[in-house]
Amino acid sequence: MHRLLEGQSDTGITLRAFRLNTVMNHLIFAGRRGRVYDRIVVLSGVRPGDSALDVGSSSGYLTRRLASVAGPSGQVTGVDPSEPAIAYARRYARPGLTFAVGVAQNLGLPDASFDVVSCTLAVHHMPEDQRQAAFAEMYRVTKPGGRLLTADLAPLLHSRGRRKPGATTPADPMRDLATAVGYQVESAGKLPLLRYIVAVRPEQPRGQAPVTGS
Ligand SMILES: C[S@@+](CC[C@H](N)C(=O)[O-])C[C@H]1O[C@@H](n2cnc3c(N)ncnc32)[C@H](O)[C@@H]1O
Repeated sequence: MHRLLEGQSDTGITLRAFRLNTVMNHLIFAGRRGRVYDRIVVLSGVRPGDSALDVGSSSGYLTRRLASVAGPSGQVTGVDPSEPAIAYARRYARPGLTFAVGVAQNLGLPDASFDVVSCTLAVHHMPEDQRQAAFAEMYRVTKPGGRLLTADLAPLLHSRGRRKPGATTPADPMRDLATAVGYQVESAGKLPLLRYIVAVRPEQPRGQAPVTGS
């Protein structure tokens, strides 16, 4: 049954049965899914006219919400490795709302091209040893001054592998993954079932002094 729902590849666990996943999401959020995702949209800071990227978008539930705020002058893209989910999401495509098959670790999108990058409930689908590469890619495509919003089920983010004796469990794996690639975490907290972080790509790369007029 598990194999029918999900495909385990070397880049992550791809959801084939995205419709069933949607039903399960509604159940686990106990009728609050819409409110939780509305809150995620607010936390993402997306504004009319923004370009936004939703990584691990599945059938585009959050992507469409982001697009409704970005409006007709915005440009919102959802990316997911699941071809059936992207095929479904494309039913909602319109100018300014597009979907593509792809993985977070290799987005194939231009540098510094998004005001907002979101990634919800997808980090735990990525192999642990590829999560850092995924955050590096999300950083690469975020505009300087742009924002990253990630939210996930905290218990699923913790290492399932054997721990070295004495190794500590990171309190907040998403915060560590984001700061390691250069994001500055602005806020972090809890939503029903989820932990989130909001982080900003600094205007100046680390260690580079701002250019001042003479
Ligand atoms: C539980 S769904 C979350 C969908 C949506 N973001 C939400 O919040 O409802 C997780 C998604 O992550 C996708 N996924 C798996 N591996 C991935 C990867 N390496 N990069 C991006 N997405 C991935 C799966 O195909 C699946 O659609």
